[in-house]
Amino acid sequence: MGETIRFLLDGQAHEVRGANPTTTLLEHLRGPMRRTGTKEGCAEGDCGSCTVLVGEGEGDTVAWRAVNACIQFLPMLHGKALMTVESLAAKDGALHPVQQAMVDKHGSQCGFCTPGIVMSLYARVVGAKGARAPVGEVLAGNLCRCTGYGPIIEVAQGVAAEAAPAVDLSAVRDETMLALSYEDEIHGVTRRWFAPRTVDELAQVYAAHPDATIVAGATDVGLWVTKLRKPLPTLISVSEVAELKALDETADSLRIGAGVRYVDAIAAVASLYPDLGRMMRRLGSTQVRNSGTVGGNIANGSPIGDMPPALIAAGATLVLRRGDERREMPLEAFFIDYGKQDRRPGEFVEAVIVPAPARDRIFKVFKLSKRFDQDISAVCGAFSLAVEGGVVTDARIAFGGMAGTPKRATACEAALVGQAWSEATIEAAMAALDTDYAPMSDMRASATYRSLAARNMLRKVFLESQHAEVETRVMPESAHG
Ligand SMILES: Cc1cc2nc3c(=O)[nH]c(=O)nc-3n(C[C@H](O)[C@H](O)[C@H](O)COP(=O)(O)OP(=O)(O)OC[C@H]3O[C@@H](n4cnc5c(N)ncnc54)[C@H](O)[C@@H]3O)c2cc1C
Ligand code: FES
Ligand code: FES
Repeated sequence: MGETIRFLLDGQAHEVRGANPTTTLLEHLRGPMRRTGTKEGCAEGDCGSCTVLVGEGEGDTVAWRAVNACIQFLPMLHGKALMTVESLAAKDGALHPVQQAMVDKHGSQCGFCTPGIVMSLYARVVGAKGARAPVGEVLAGNLCRCTGYGPIIEVAQGVAAEAAPAVDLSAVRDETMLALSYEDEIHGVTRRWFAPRTVDELAQVYAAHPDATIVAGATDVGLWVTKLRKPLPTLISVSEVAELKALDETADSLRIGAGVRYVDAIAAVASLYPDLGRMMRRLGSTQVRNSGTVGGNIANGSPIGDMPPALIAAGATLVLRRGDERREMPLEAFFIDYGKQDRRPGEFVEAVIVPAPARDRIFKVFKLSKRFDQDISAVCGAFSLAVEGGVVTDARIAFGGMAGTPKRATACEAALVGQAWSEATIEAAMAALDTDYAPMSDMRASATYRSLAARNMLRKVFLESQHAEVETRVMPESAHG
């Protein structure tokens, strides 16, 4: 693509030359483009006031999804289509039915959140990705501090579905996207953006630039720029790499390419592990799940990432690649220490392979956060247990939020295996968690609360296995709104 980023805006090709690759889409919209309808509330993906729709080629169609413009880097838009709140009103200025209903139902007071809410509701109206869901789920990433959600939900329920606008991406998509390089004229620093199309190209470019920052959905990396002001001179985007976007299902396993977004992974994961699928619908918001990837969640190595504990409990294998060399490891072995993973310079995450669960295996995931949706976990516990003839024959248990890494509870597992699946065994295994973990206190929870919560999660697994009705009381599907 040379130095030109091209995307379609309201059907017209739009070109940007010489932009710093870490310029956010929001900065570009509100700055040079003067599209100030899109608001900046938090600049960290939390409030949704910057919600826009991005359309991307998928086979012969264009798939639209709502994203947070504040944490999308501008080059991520290359070859795609964009709709902002200004795109909705017809040329004669007539409001779109969603906008008109917001007026009629008094869905707006100060109006700051309104453009973002309109875009999320519009995404639902046109059946965009991740938006064919209950209203509460679609709006979980749009915070309104003054109107209250009653009228907004009424709007969502009253507007008829319609087709998304047809767009032809051929005018903005080319095959020369690799090796885009920028000179930053302000600080005299060379800034580079690479967007390889194949995994071999990715391996090559990363080997040549092992100090580069890999970026997938940017739901973590975006914040390093907007909040931490990191310069990130060289970025390699994995979101154009075809092989990394693949989901391969066999009878025995599900292979999730590192670039697969949550929104595209949930159904396949849920078909193997329904409880994990339910948890994934609470991870971030619609906008975050529409951009964020499972690979990014693993590679980030955060002790409070939600996928690692669940995937460790499921017995997942991580596939890493450097140059032509591939290696595989049990996922838990990847997390060495806080901020330290078993990844060599130039090595990237290629995929995670999740085995299909054995029949009758108990598999539970509990995400404990202050807010039901769009909140980072204080504790995330995952449990995979085999109980045969009333005896625990195998146990894989892992927690997030309890240590400096996502970590298996080996003492707890040892206290369960070979023992009767009983209240007494559970008591002993709960106590063993104190050997496994010495959690810290922070703004999300105190150490005492975390320890108690982890213990109680294990008890909950036991109780739910004894009384199926407890489960439906604790986690009703209707909680999604
Ligand atoms: C509002 C908000 C809510 C969130 N809520 C949650 C939540 O509830 N639970 C949760 O777990 N997380 C949450 N997150 C964090 C984030 O969404 C996840 O960690 C997400 O999975 C990151 O994926 P990504 O594709 O956006 O990664 P990026 O931000 O693109 O990258 C993340 C890290 O992974 C590296 N990386 C990415 N891909 C690769 C690869 N293939 N090989 C090697 N390195 C790679 C990057 O260099 C970076 O270090 C939230 C984030 C936001 C902004
Ligand atoms: S400004 Fe808050 S999510 Fe983007
Ligand atoms: S109308 Fe004021 S924040 Fe929603």
